[in-house]
Amino acid sequence: GLAGLDLLAEIDRLRKERNAVILAHYYQEPAIQDLADFVGDSLDLSRKAAATDADVIAFCGVRFMAEVAKILSPEKTVILPDMDAGCSLEDSCPPEQFAAFRAAHPDHIALTYINCSAAVKTHSDIIVTSSSAEKILSQIPMDQKIIFAPDKNLGAYFNRKTGRDMLLWPGACIVHEAFSETELLKLKALHPDAPVAAHPECPAYILDHADQIGSTRAILDFALSSPAQTIIVATEPHIIHQMEKAAPHKTFIGAPGADGNCNCNMCPYMALNSIEKLYIALRDMTPRIELDADTIDRARKPLERMLAMAS
Ligand code: 13P
Ligand code: SF4
Repeated sequence: GLAGLDLLAEIDRLRKERNAVILAHYYQEPAIQDLADFVGDSLDLSRKAAATDADVIAFCGVRFMAEVAKILSPEKTVILPDMDAGCSLEDSCPPEQFAAFRAAHPDHIALTYINCSAAVKTHSDIIVTSSSAEKILSQIPMDQKIIFAPDKNLGAYFNRKTGRDMLLWPGACIVHEAFSETELLKLKALHPDAPVAAHPECPAYILDHADQIGSTRAILDFALSSPAQTIIVATEPHIIHQMEKAAPHKTFIGAPGADGNCNCNMCPYMALNSIEKLYIALRDMTPRIELDADTIDRARKPLERMLAMAS
């Protein structure tokens, strides 16, 4: 058993022994964020995974993120504390259906949000993240027809922002769809000077009330640079850990769901990872991301296009 083990010390020992780098997303529990070598949004985590000289990437995030690390660094061993850490956006876009959608629109290019399976990436032309989509779209001619999958909220947001008419796959994130407009308006009335920072995975009825819209890193940067004393955060609330660490004198409030608090907006997939499972993964070098060479080859092209166009 694990009883009596100092897990943090053991993780440290194993990370050195295995020459492992621990990458974590902002939606991971505070203890994981605090021991990670790097915490970031999906674009920064992809860049780190592509550039690391570690032999092992221990990815504390969801499976599609760990797959991206493997695709960009196929010679490395990529471990994920819990292989069931999926994503509702990935689930909303089965590869066979996506391939059929793509085939039905041969005059469109497929711009695909990174929150999807490796198989969907193999059918995509360019991958985007919320922090890179606008820059990438600015390099695509306005008359180029585009299909966008799987997040209809994020796609609709970038359509509004860039004046495009991308054809949207009807997927959504269960976490960002759980915010309540009524409860958000009540909270704003209580804190009239607090700006709202929101993730573009939120539906338009939430984004309409946002002062800033961006990726997790953009939300964090905004929260820290804003002169406001209180900030309302409309994304998964574990990111508030970084805000409180960097600006302990400010107040950060997670945007509420229908029950009036932000507990229903925790990502249940991210929550599957734990310190215990990370320790076991580093000890046993499993669960491990395994992708066949053909999938890696075909999924890498649209990811490398993203990295080149976003730089
Ligand atoms: P970013 O960190 O790129 O903003 O992504 C948010 C998200 O929902 C990841 O699953
Ligand atoms: Fe997927 Fe939403 Fe969880 Fe992000 S927050 S991993 S998009 S389910």
